[in-house]
Amino acid sequence: MNRADRYRKYFTKDYLMGPNSFRLLDELIRKNPYNTCYDRTLDLGCGMALTSIFLANETSAKSVYAFDLWVDATDNLKRIRDLSLEDRIIPIHGDALNMPFAQGWFDAIVSVDSYHYFGCKEGIFADRILPFVRSGGSIMIAIPGLREKPQGEIRTLFETWAEGDDSLCFKTVDWWKSMLEKECRDRRCISVMEAECYDEAWDDWFNTGHEYAIRDREYLSRGLNRILNFVLIYVMKSRSNKAPAEA
Ligand SMILES: C[S@@+](CC[C@H](N)C(=O)[O-])C[C@H]1O[C@@H](n2cnc3c(N)ncnc32)[C@H](O)[C@@H]1O
Repeated sequence: MNRADRYRKYFTKDYLMGPNSFRLLDELIRKNPYNTCYDRTLDLGCGMALTSIFLANETSAKSVYAFDLWVDATDNLKRIRDLSLEDRIIPIHGDALNMPFAQGWFDAIVSVDSYHYFGCKEGIFADRILPFVRSGGSIMIAIPGLREKPQGEIRTLFETWAEGDDSLCFKTVDWWKSMLEKECRDRRCISVMEAECYDEAWDDWFNTGHEYAIRDREYLSRGLNRILNFVLIYVMKSRSNKAPAEA
């Protein structure tokens, strides 16, 4: 059994917020090309803290900071307490663009189906995210993206589905690679690839029967399946790329 399948009780419209994050996170961790230490991990844009629970159970993390903007930290604490994980998962409400942590605090920052909402603009990765991971630490991101840039009728369909501005959050593997190469001075520590769990992650979401899932299924079957993918991003912060507080 796949590790994600242990969390089947959460594969419902009450918990999933889109394509199955457990599948994305499981693959993100499995394919990690770097030797990541998870001791102190930030789950950036954790939503309902399901990905934080997975990180606490399935990695060597000693503490997971469950950080999110739209979901209340007190709601997340209830889910965390139900599993007696309150000594290891710390729920925090906040904005990724203005994080309250000390620089270099985290061994790893993990972000699933969230980073594209705030991280596509130049300077955000370098100035607002990278400083919070220690030298030699890792940043791992799984997000929806594009296999190819939509053209013609597919572009119209895509923009209607993504409702205008949100369409700007979807980028190709090559776009992310070149953006991160500009953001990080050490190019050797960046790896970007397409995820393989595309069908499974979407099918689990469709099967919830959520009204957005019904809409997504319709648009994907009308042609978006040809251009969409999931992108896995790994950055290991080099020891020479030190945050000011550590230098
Ligand atoms: C689709 S949900 C995914 C949640 C969770 N990672 C999961 O996979 O189940 C996207 C999440 O991104 C979070 N988010 C969006 N913009 C954010 C920001 N600026 N700072 C922190 N979180 C943000 C939202 O609060 C939302 O919970």
